[in-house]
This record gives sequence, C-alpha cells and structure tokens, in this order.
Amino acid sequence: MNSRERFLSALACQPLDRPPLWVMRQAGRYLPEYRALKAQSSFVHMVQTPALAAEVTLQPVRRFPGLDAAILFSDILVIPEALGQPYSFRDGGGIAMDRRISTRADIDALNPVSAVPEKLDYVAQTLRLLKTELAGSKMLLGFGGSPWTLATYMVEGGSSDDFERIKLLFYTDRATFDALLEKLTESLIAYFHMQIAAGADAIQIFDSWGGLIAGPDYEAASLKWIRRIIAALPADFPIILYAKGTAPHLTDQAFSGVRAISVDWTNDLAIVRRNLPANVALQGNLDPVLMQTTPEIVSREAARLLESMRGLNGHVFNLGHGITPQAKIENMQALVDTVTTWK
Ligand code: CP3
Repeated sequence: MNSRERFLSALACQPLDRPPLWVMRQAGRYLPEYRALKAQSSFVHMVQTPALAAEVTLQPVRRFPGLDAAILFSDILVIPEALGQPYSFRDGGGIAMDRRISTRADIDALNPVSAVPEKLDYVAQTLRLLKTELAGSKMLLGFGGSPWTLATYMVEGGSSDDFERIKLLFYTDRATFDALLEKLTESLIAYFHMQIAAGADAIQIFDSWGGLIAGPDYEAASLKWIRRIIAALPADFPIILYAKGTAPHLTDQAFSGVRAISVDWTNDLAIVRRNLPANVALQGNLDPVLMQTTPEIVSREAARLLESMRGLNGHVFNLGHGITPQAKIENMQALVDTVTTWK
C-alpha cells in the first residue's frame, strides 16, 4: 500500500497497521533548504511561480520520505489578494493587508468572484506539476482558509490580537458581514473546484480563528459558510476541516459534510474518536511545541498518542497546529521514524 492509498484508507476510516502522517506547515522556515530558497526570492514570488512552489512543496517529502502527503505550498491569503486586497509581512512578524474592508462599498469594489480562478491559475499549474511529479505515490493536498478566518484578515487589516473589528461588524452590521462572507464563500467554491480539477486528492480548510467566535455565534459566523462550501463540491471528495480552539463544536463539525476533522492539541484524540461518528476521520494532534524538545521526548509522546488510538480507525497523524520555525530537524525525523515503524 503506498502513501496515497494509506491516506485515503484512513480518510475512509478503514483499519490500518499505522496511521498516515503529514505535518501542517511541513514546508517552511524550520527547513534549511526552505530558508536557502527564501534568501533568493520573496515568499509571494515563490508562491506565484509554479516551479518554485512545487519545489518547496516537495522539500519536506524529499527529506522525510516517510511523510505520506505533500501539501501545496501557498497561503490562505491568496484569496483576498485575488479579490484585490494584497498581503505583505510586517517587520517583526504577522501579516499586513493592503487597507481594511469595513463597508459595503469596500466589498462592492473587490474583484468579481469570476476573477478568482483566473488570477490563481498559478495554483492550478503548481498542482499539475506536483500531480505529475508525485504520480500517485503520495497524497496531494490542496487547501484554503475558511470564509471567517479570511474575513478576519480582510476586516482587521492583517493579523490581530483582539479581533474587535470583525466582531463589531458581525454584531452591528450583519448584512455587510454576510455580504463579505458570501463573497468569500463563492470565491472559495470556485477556487476549490479549480484545485480539484488540477489534481488535489483532498482539501484542507483552515479555520484557524474559528475559536475566537463567541460559542453561540460559531454557526452563523463560521460553520454555516464552511457547510455551504462543502455542499457545493463533489459529494465524495474528501474535505478536512482544521478549526483551532473549537472543541465545543466538534459534533456540529462532524455533521457538516467533512470527511475528517483536524483537531488541535488541547483535545484528547482517543476521547474525541469515541465520541464522534465512526465515518468521520480525525487528524492530529501532538502539541507543536514538542517539536522544539528532543527526539526522545517526541518519540515518547508520538508513541503515547499512537497507543491511545490503537484499535481505533480513521486517524491521520499530524500535529495539533502548524510546525513552528523553531522546530528541530532531528525532532521531525524522530516523529517520522516513530510513526512509520509503529507496530
Ligand atoms: O502547510 C504547508 O506547508 C503549506 C503552506 C502553508 C503556508 N501558509 C505557508 C506559509 C499553509 C497551509 C498556510 C496557511 C495559513 N496562512 C494559515 C492557516 C494555517 C494556520 O497556521 O493556522 C494562516 C492563518 C496563514 C496566514 C499566514 N501566512 C501567517 C499568519 C503567516 C506567518 C506570518 C509571520 O510573520 O510569521 C504566513 C506566512 C507563511 N505562510 C509562511 C509560510 C511558510 C512563512 C513565510 C516566510 O517564509 O517568512
């Protein structure tokens, strides 16, 4: 059984000798070969140049052949960019968006949804290169942000500590909030159709800021739009939902049409497994901070998670959020070795 078959079996909740493995943000700054490329060209240039984006996507799977998936190298912020609101990086970390979206007129001034697949054609080209290169040996993952998580960047004008602007919009002007989320939802549907046509085997939706919403508003602010996206995609196409800090909503997520839920490290995965429907797979969920410890600690904690899931189906091994730039290569190696030799 090759990596792609293993991954698809896990998503279908079939019994397996060991779970497939990949790591959120597996291509990135903790890899010396990524930093070397980044020294010669900007992040946005790498994302927009199919040969470079494909190369960066493949860096982690070349270094760690035990990884079962490659994830498209790109960013969730290519959607606001395609709609006419580009992003850049703040000195000292974080994202800066070009201006802020705050009124109905700002939304109407964005590019039409029909511009999105055209402007993001470089993503389709990258996926086609990867499809050819991987030749079905590894799972090829596409991704995008959730409408809510993208709206936070667009309305806050970048990374935010308090998310006050987007929440004030939600509470005080629901019609404008809905118009923005509607536009993002339609854009993501078009974008995901394009990714599927270009060869993605599954798509992960990142609702990284879903946990910032007041509990009773999670449905109206985020999950409802995700459900709408899933309903517009081919019925049997696997969608993985990552929503950090949303443990109280796991059951609602499980009934949203997703094939898998990527759970953060605050959950006990085996308990979640026992509480959710058996046909929804789970992904996760080691604490990413472990990747800054030692190989012994990583091995021990990975084995503990594997042991807790013994006999339970539908597990894709991953971290509970993205690997950080401070992660150590030898810890990634220990993780790959522990999961791939598990018995
Ligand atoms: O997983 C992968 O390897 C695929 C690549 C990927 C990137 N961004 C590359 C990237 C993915 C899946 C993303 C998603 C993304 N981007 C999310 C959701 C995932 C999550 O972590 O919750 C979010 C919220 C973003 C927005 C974003 N882009 C942030 C917050 C940052 C970091 C800014 C900073 O100053 O640290 C980025 C930049 C980014 N995206 C980098 C990478 C490798 C780092 C860019 C660099 O090399 O400097």
